[in-house]
Amino acid sequence: MAAHVSVCRGLVSVLAVVAFLSCAAAAGRGGGPAERQRLDVRRHLKRLNKKPVKSIKSPDGDTIDCVHISHQPAFDHPFLKNHTIQTRPAFHPEGLFDEKKVESQKKTPSIAQLWHQNGRCPENTIPIRRTTGDDVLRASSIKRYGRKKHRSIPFPLSVDPDLLNESGHQHAIAYVEGDKYYGAKATINVWQPEIQQSNEFSLSQLWILGGSFGEDLNSIEAGWQVSPDLYGDNNTRLFTYWTSDAYQATGCYNLLCSGFIQINNDIAMGASIYPISNYDGSQYDISILVWKDPKEGNWWMQFGNDYVLGYWPSFLFSYLADSATMIEWGGEVVNSEPDGEHTSTEMGSGRFPEEGFSKASYFRNIQIVDESNNLRAPKGVGAFTEQSNCYDVQNGNNGEWGQYFYYGGPGKSSNCP
Ligand SMILES: *[C@@H]1O[C@H](CO)[C@@H](O)[C@H](O)[C@H]1NC(C)=O
Ligand SMILES: *[C@@H]1O[C@H](CO)[C@@H](O)[C@H](O)[C@H]1NC(C)=O
Ligand SMILES: *[C@@H]1O[C@H](CO)[C@@H](O)[C@H](O)[C@H]1NC(C)=O
Repeated sequence: MAAHVSVCRGLVSVLAVVAFLSCAAAAGRGGGPAERQRLDVRRHLKRLNKKPVKSIKSPDGDTIDCVHISHQPAFDHPFLKNHTIQTRPAFHPEGLFDEKKVESQKKTPSIAQLWHQNGRCPENTIPIRRTTGDDVLRASSIKRYGRKKHRSIPFPLSVDPDLLNESGHQHAIAYVEGDKYYGAKATINVWQPEIQQSNEFSLSQLWILGGSFGEDLNSIEAGWQVSPDLYGDNNTRLFTYWTSDAYQATGCYNLLCSGFIQINNDIAMGASIYPISNYDGSQYDISILVWKDPKEGNWWMQFGNDYVLGYWPSFLFSYLADSATMIEWGGEVVNSEPDGEHTSTEMGSGRFPEEGFSKASYFRNIQIVDESNNLRAPKGVGAFTEQSNCYDVQNGNNGEWGQYFYYGGPGKSSNCP
């Protein structure tokens, strides 16, 4: 039976669903735990993957399903059964929202998603990265698929070092706190950091946090990540995450549970970003804006200048139903200490901040949304990292980039054993 499992796992992703059926049939003689697992996986895939209007094969091996907007996973949520989809935010933090901008959705030529090379999703559909059986099998359990393994919020004010180092997550971030925040924005340099082993990841994101750092922490997160366990490769992918109970029972990555309501047919959560920056070469960055619509209370997300992706309904949250108490921007890696040494998984570009532009990774024009729904430069920005000899962060401020910082590092080195 054990041999069966590995053979079945080895099959290419596209065939995975079919493979499950045949593997399940072949393994079904005994009706043992392996067969039960396969049936569970099948049931889970059926729940996650909605019937597409059209499917697009991406060069990276993904299948992007164009699913009718009213059939997206959000509407499995009992509270959303009678939900009327908001087709645009009532307010936009740059001032009154320009309707033409939402409707015409001008394309940004510079940064896109790899699957665009092979097609686009029609109107009234949204692109969803199809989950394969392999994706689910790489998770520690079907229940944990698409969810974070443990709490991993960098908590710079914590004086309890055990808590910080507990989960093996390491951060290099800038942050603000002590006010009420209604959103955050940043332009994030995009790289493809190397990951030492598949159970580790490297990401660069913003965090919108509400509540204390207890069991009821609310968080909305967005950025790019490289996560072999979640996606089965080392590509740099756009992602979001949300939770209303410190990663325990609620929330997930992307559209892997009901929550986020997507309205945009151009951008797929979890899809590969293309192109990626090169060391001492071309640089690419993405802009992410997350803000609370003061009228409806929903938290909206925009990618680049033109793509309003959708929103998290206010009722998903407790503290964030009002406002955020802390904003963080920066990098995070998992250090699983393979062989008892620090991981060589990279953060950002894998280079330290002092190398500067086109070498180290950056966040520029970091901003917060204030109570009057205006984008502002954050005041009193702090910087935090657990081990600056492994991954570091350096704040700066200038005219064109406003508040910015360089961050990242190589992980393991002679200074970071
Ligand atoms: C949805 O609408 C139906 C019919 O009007 C109603 O019976 C049901 O209670 C509503 N469900 C929710 C969750 O509001
Ligand atoms: C985390 O652990 C490392 C290695 O044991 C240690 O050097 C570092 O000081 C710890 N960081 C904090 C913030 O406690
Ligand atoms: C991802 O990168 C690691 C380390 O560079 C490599 O060992 C692994 O084979 C890569 N995985 C895939 C799916 O390409």
